[in-house]
Amino acid sequence: MTTALVRPELLAEHLTARLETALNAHLERAQSWYPHDYVPWGEARDFAELPFEQAQSRLSKQVRASVQLNLLTEDNLPGYHGAIRAVLGYSDVWRTWLDRWTAEEARHGIALRDYLTVTRAVDPVVLEDERMATMCVGFDAGDRDGLRVIAYVSMQELATRVAHRNTGRCSGDPGLERLLARISTDENLHMVLYRDLFAAALEADPVASMSALLAEVVGFSMPGTGIPGFVRRAAVVARAGIYDLRVHRDQVLRPLLGFWRVFERELPPEAEAVRDELAVVLAEIDRRAERQRLRSP
Ligand SMILES: [Fe+2]
Ligand SMILES: [Fe+2]
Repeated sequence: MTTALVRPELLAEHLTARLETALNAHLERAQSWYPHDYVPWGEARDFAELPFEQAQSRLSKQVRASVQLNLLTEDNLPGYHGAIRAVLGYSDVWRTWLDRWTAEEARHGIALRDYLTVTRAVDPVVLEDERMATMCVGFDAGDRDGLRVIAYVSMQELATRVAHRNTGRCSGDPGLERLLARISTDENLHMVLYRDLFAAALEADPVASMSALLAEVVGFSMPGTGIPGFVRRAAVVARAGIYDLRVHRDQVLRPLLGFWRVFERELPPEAEAVRDELAVVLAEIDRRAERQRLRSP
């Protein structure tokens, strides 16, 4: 039986208690790892002696587009930190989590940049100019409240895990695949924590949580829209099947909605009405994914 905690301060208290447990579980599961162990430093050449040329890259155009998008997304970390802190910085435990998460995410950008630079996978000048441009745009979380942020980051962490993992598998570069698999393991643990928090929110306040979930499923996009050429690169990545609407539906939406038992759980009538709207949105996603499948080679 669900109960409704409609007062925001009670919901915040409930989620904070759950975060304490989830944070301890995260700290037990998370393993330390070191970027230098994943970077083939022996391949490094001074760029002053051997200037970069595209032909030096062993990655396909599609994988380059994907890995650049992934790295620039990781680079924009101060924007996400600020946005999440502004909305969820309720207490010390939230700040402890947020600082820990930020430190783990920063390692992803360090390791990926080193790997791509040392292996001459991408143009380092372009990458640096685009990092500057991306970070100068920052990240705007819009008018999301705490529940919407938790719903969004649950999806976004899983989407990032899938994007890294699929990029590695398509890369034909065992070293890059190993690094991206390592990063994906972190993203998975981040997803698990936010997924648990959102499960707690659904129990505590099903009406507000279902509304937050609906808003985030409808409006979902990766947090990289400020990256130069985002739309073009995202289209290249989608056509390569690394991350498209079908992948999003099958590897992000379905597993999360299944974990939260969104369509199986007992809900108060107001939340049921929101669930009906969600079903309509998912049916439309199915139709668009099917059209995409028919257009694919
Ligand atoms: Fe990351
Ligand atoms: Fe993450």
